Amino acid sequence: MTTERWALGGDLSVARVGYGAMKLTGWPSGDRPGRETALAVLRRAVELGVNHIDTSHYYARDGVAANELIREALHPYPDDLVIVTKVGALVEGSDIALPAAEKTGLTPDGLRRGVEANLRSLGVDRLNVVNLRMGDLDRSETPLAPPLETLLALREEGLIRHLGVSNVTAAEFEQARTIAPIACVQNLYNVSQRDDDPMVDACAEAGIAYVPFFPVGGFQPITAGRLEAVAARHRATVPQVALAWLLARSPNILLIPGTGSLDHLEENIAAAALTLSPEDLAELG
Ligand SMILES: NC(=O)c1ccc[n+]([C@@H]2O[C@H](COP(=O)([O-])OP(=O)(O)OC[C@H]3O[C@@H](n4cnc5c(N)ncnc54)[C@H](OP(=O)(O)O)[C@@H]3O)[C@@H](O)[C@H]2O)c1
Repeated sequence: MTTERWALGGDLSVARVGYGAMKLTGWPSGDRPGRETALAVLRRAVELGVNHIDTSHYYARDGVAANELIREALHPYPDDLVIVTKVGALVEGSDIALPAAEKTGLTPDGLRRGVEANLRSLGVDRLNVVNLRMGDLDRSETPLAPPLETLLALREEGLIRHLGVSNVTAAEFEQARTIAPIACVQNLYNVSQRDDDPMVDACAEAGIAYVPFFPVGGFQPITAGRLEAVAARHRATVPQVALAWLLARSPNILLIPGTGSLDHLEENIAAAALTLSPEDLAELG
């Protein structure tokens, strides 16, 4: 059971250990759980206290869509369940394709389509949190301000409760904050990839959640002798140490590890109970 909490956007209380739904669609290799296992993973996550699920309408591959699985497994949703979605730069290989005339998904039409697709597929009238995903698009052609202003307008229409940003630089984060209230930042960060350290601290300073993607390494599982040594001392696993390190790193970090395995899900949630000692943390650098 996860006990520590964070108020996402100031009013959505979430357990710090959440769940990322991308793996249910087999990104990017096609390796994914069967439908019944995927539904069981989602239901078990909620049973174990997870109330923050990260997803997107474009997590859809070969006809398997994360939002559709979430809806099937969990609708009608528990009152306290916070589903965070994203729109913007799509991922290559998604079942969701751009119209021929659009290059990025960041046009006003593309963003509205994305928000409406998330509302429809999740079966809700308003999205709790929508991240604007900038991806690795060329920023000289696609600056952050226009799409964020579009999402702000959709929020003012009542379709979105809170906004976040994803795959952003420090400068973009600062700019985003001048345009709209920002509830969270979702960037690449984990115990072995710490380029975003200053962003973690900037978010903490501003009372904004930092939600790292690839918390256990994503497509390249984290392996390091020092992690293994710490894991052995605690009779824990390397992914658990990686997650416990993130929890210890800063109170504004929220975890959304992805898995299609019930065993890994339980292991990841149990990481909340793993307290790393000052010696462990020093060893992990
Ligand atoms: N904003 C963005 O651009 C962006 C990009 C990527 C991801 N995301 C979000 O971030 C979430 C997390 O990222 P992610 O799922 O790609 O990376 P991740 O959570 O670091 O790693 C997931 C991978 O690690 C394995 N894994 C998870 N727990 C494990 C455990 N206890 N032991 C062994 N293996 C384990 C999973 O395989 P098994 O199925 O075998 O457990 C899966 O292949 C995603 O679900 C998605 O919601 C956002």
